[in-house]
Amino acid sequence: PKVTYVGDDGTPHTVDARTGDSVMSAAVRNGVPGILAECGGNCSCATCHVYVRPEFAELTGTPGEMEDDLLDMGVGDRRPTSRLACQIPVTEELDGLTVDVPADQP
Ligand code: FES
Repeated sequence: PKVTYVGDDGTPHTVDARTGDSVMSAAVRNGVPGILAECGGNCSCATCHVYVRPEFAELTGTPGEMEDDLLDMGVGDRRPTSRLACQIPVTEELDGLTVDVPADQP
Protein backbone atom coordinates (compact mmCIF):
# COMPACT_ATOMS: atom_id res chain seq x y z
CA PRO A 1 0.00 0.00 0.00
CA LYS A 2 1.13 3.54 -0.73
CA VAL A 3 1.40 6.06 2.05
CA THR A 4 2.00 9.75 1.41
CA TYR A 5 3.59 12.07 3.96
CA VAL A 6 3.17 15.76 3.26
CA GLY A 7 5.81 17.96 4.84
CA ASP A 8 5.09 21.30 6.45
CA ASP A 9 6.35 22.99 3.27
CA GLY A 10 3.82 21.02 1.21
CA THR A 11 6.32 18.56 -0.27
CA PRO A 12 4.77 15.10 -0.59
CA HIS A 13 6.78 11.91 -0.07
CA THR A 14 5.03 8.77 -1.24
CA VAL A 15 6.42 5.42 -0.15
CA ASP A 16 5.58 1.78 -0.78
CA ALA A 17 4.70 0.54 2.68
CA ARG A 18 4.35 -3.12 3.60
CA THR A 19 1.60 -4.75 5.54
CA GLY A 20 3.15 -5.25 8.95
CA ASP A 21 4.82 -1.85 8.86
CA SER A 22 3.51 0.95 10.96
CA VAL A 23 2.99 4.33 9.35
CA MET A 24 6.10 5.31 11.34
CA SER A 25 8.38 2.42 10.30
CA ALA A 26 7.48 2.81 6.62
CA ALA A 27 8.51 6.47 6.85
CA VAL A 28 11.76 5.77 8.67
CA ARG A 29 12.79 2.99 6.27
CA ASN A 30 12.23 5.29 3.34
CA GLY A 31 13.93 8.33 4.84
CA VAL A 32 10.85 10.52 5.06
CA PRO A 33 11.88 13.77 6.76
CA GLY A 34 10.18 14.89 9.96
CA ILE A 35 9.34 11.48 11.46
CA LEU A 36 11.98 11.13 14.15
CA ALA A 37 10.63 8.12 16.04
CA GLU A 38 13.19 8.39 18.82
CA CYS A 39 11.68 5.57 20.88
CA GLY A 40 11.59 3.19 17.94
CA GLY A 41 7.85 2.67 18.02
CA ASN A 42 7.19 2.05 21.69
CA CYS A 43 4.59 4.77 22.09
CA SER A 44 6.80 6.72 24.47
CA CYS A 45 8.42 9.61 22.58
CA ALA A 46 5.70 11.32 20.48
CA THR A 47 8.28 12.25 17.82
CA CYS A 48 6.33 10.33 15.19
CA HIS A 49 3.36 12.70 15.45
CA VAL A 50 1.34 13.14 12.27
CA TYR A 51 -2.04 14.55 11.26
CA VAL A 52 -4.19 11.99 9.47
CA ARG A 53 -6.19 13.50 6.60
CA PRO A 54 -9.88 13.53 7.58
CA GLU A 55 -10.92 11.19 4.75
CA PHE A 56 -8.80 8.45 6.34
CA ALA A 57 -9.74 9.10 9.95
CA GLU A 58 -12.34 6.38 10.04
CA LEU A 59 -9.95 3.76 8.65
CA THR A 60 -7.12 4.65 11.02
CA GLY A 61 -9.39 4.70 14.06
CA THR A 62 -8.82 6.55 17.29
CA PRO A 63 -5.79 6.67 19.60
CA GLY A 64 -5.47 4.09 22.34
CA GLU A 65 -5.24 5.20 25.96
CA MET A 66 -1.44 5.40 26.15
CA GLU A 67 -1.26 7.14 22.81
CA ASP A 68 -3.95 9.58 23.85
CA ASP A 69 -2.03 10.49 27.03
CA LEU A 70 1.19 10.92 25.11
CA LEU A 71 -0.48 13.16 22.54
CA ASP A 72 -1.82 15.29 25.39
CA MET A 73 1.51 15.57 27.17
CA GLY A 74 4.04 15.43 24.39
CA VAL A 75 2.63 17.24 21.41
CA GLY A 76 2.62 21.02 21.14
CA ASP A 77 -0.11 21.42 18.55
CA ARG A 78 -2.51 18.55 19.09
CA ARG A 79 -5.49 18.52 16.74
CA PRO A 80 -8.49 16.19 16.40
CA THR A 81 -6.61 14.34 13.64
CA SER A 82 -3.37 13.91 15.61
CA ARG A 83 -1.96 10.40 15.78
CA LEU A 84 1.32 8.75 16.62
CA ALA A 85 2.41 7.12 13.38
CA CYS A 86 3.93 4.12 15.19
CA GLN A 87 0.47 3.23 16.45
CA ILE A 88 -1.12 2.99 13.00
CA PRO A 89 -0.57 -0.41 11.36
CA VAL A 90 -0.35 -0.38 7.58
CA THR A 91 -3.06 -2.46 5.93
CA GLU A 92 -4.15 -2.93 2.33
CA GLU A 93 -7.29 -0.90 3.06
CA LEU A 94 -5.11 2.07 3.93
CA ASP A 95 -3.67 2.26 0.40
CA GLY A 96 -3.43 5.94 -0.49
CA LEU A 97 -3.28 7.06 3.13
CA THR A 98 -2.11 10.64 3.39
CA VAL A 99 -0.79 12.24 6.55
CA ASP A 100 0.62 15.68 7.24
CA VAL A 101 3.94 15.89 9.06
CA PRO A 102 4.14 18.75 11.57
CA ALA A 103 6.90 21.35 11.28
CA ASP A 104 8.38 20.37 14.64
CA GLN A 105 8.43 17.17 16.63
CA PRO A 106 8.73 17.36 20.40
FE1 FES B 1 7.99 6.96 19.64
FE2 FES B 1 5.94 6.62 17.97
S1 FES B 1 8.02 6.27 17.60
S2 FES B 1 5.91 7.28 20.03
